[in-house]
Amino acid sequence: MAEMLDRIQELAREAEAAVAAAPSVEALEALRTAWLGRSGRLQEVLRALGTLPPAERGPVGRAANDVKEAVTSRLEARLGELRAAAEGALGDARWVDATMPGARRGGGTLHPVTQMRRELEELFLSMGFSILDGPWVEDDRHNFEALNVAKDHPARDAQDTFWLEDGHLLRTHTSPVQVRAMETRKPPIRAVAAGRVFRNEALDASHENTFHQIEGLVVERDVNVGHLVHTLKTLLSAVFGRDVEVRLRPSFFPFTEPSFELDLRCLVCEGKGCPVCKRSGWVELLGCGLVHPNVLRACGVDPATWSGFAFGLGIDRLVMMRHGIEDIRWLMSGDLRFLSQFGAGVSG
Ligand code: DAH
Repeated sequence: MAEMLDRIQELAREAEAAVAAAPSVEALEALRTAWLGRSGRLQEVLRALGTLPPAERGPVGRAANDVKEAVTSRLEARLGELRAAAEGALGDARWVDATMPGARRGGGTLHPVTQMRRELEELFLSMGFSILDGPWVEDDRHNFEALNVAKDHPARDAQDTFWLEDGHLLRTHTSPVQVRAMETRKPPIRAVAAGRVFRNEALDASHENTFHQIEGLVVERDVNVGHLVHTLKTLLSAVFGRDVEVRLRPSFFPFTEPSFELDLRCLVCEGKGCPVCKRSGWVELLGCGLVHPNVLRACGVDPATWSGFAFGLGIDRLVMMRHGIEDIRWLMSGDLRFLSQFGAGVSG
């Protein structure tokens, strides 16, 4: 038996030396057949097992199998080396198939909401606005109180607001950034702030618990509704690149007086009625108005000298209008089949 085991070790050394010296993939494949094939040299040893006394078959068989495995893995490793060398060898045309289609790089794309947000920010920058940012986790004062939202206002209802255990909340709108702007800057102010907002709502085709708004605030001397309407019209015609139909409805917000809602003729169904516009033909796009004197006062701005307009616009709705998306839930779905349709806007 010792003789047999020696013979196996000898074969192993021989095979490994041959593999290490193999100059090409073809040579290696030939070695594979010669050593590991059905009538290869290791197989010969295994076949001779039958001639051994039964007690010796186990150890010899195991040794032969170990060698077979070791040689196989050496061979694969060498194959990898040779292939890599062949690919790396410039000018070795054997490994370049010029008829293969080029490999497509799977680059990411900007989310359609991000694209829209950036576009809006560019537009406002061009109109002389600053771009501000605000925290997602807010306190009662910034999200409600300084905005003239009374303690018993239904907007504070647990149905709408995600409250945190420590009394903070996830901002329900971008309006708290107005408060932060007036607290930290002296008028005149022209600023926009875009970002995520959160509401504890039942979801449907037009309601998400996470969506996006862009808030605008202008504080100057003698601001009136005409300035507000002009700014919003400029914005919407730039976004859609065509005349869109809008209507201004008197509305109520605690932080503006007077308050309006601006509706857009639904571009998904052209006003015929669809799930996005709840079959009404119109989509609520934004709330706006002249900043309530209580808000100015709460933020340290004197309403006798300064006046302002403000608006809060739903970015997701704009994206849906632009692309004809019928269900807002797609936007936060993370579904790449959906997202890869909006390939624009990637640089680098
Ligand atoms: N914050 C309001 C909302 O989320 C939208 C809004 C209305 C913002 C009127 C404003 C405004 O700045 O003046 O529903």
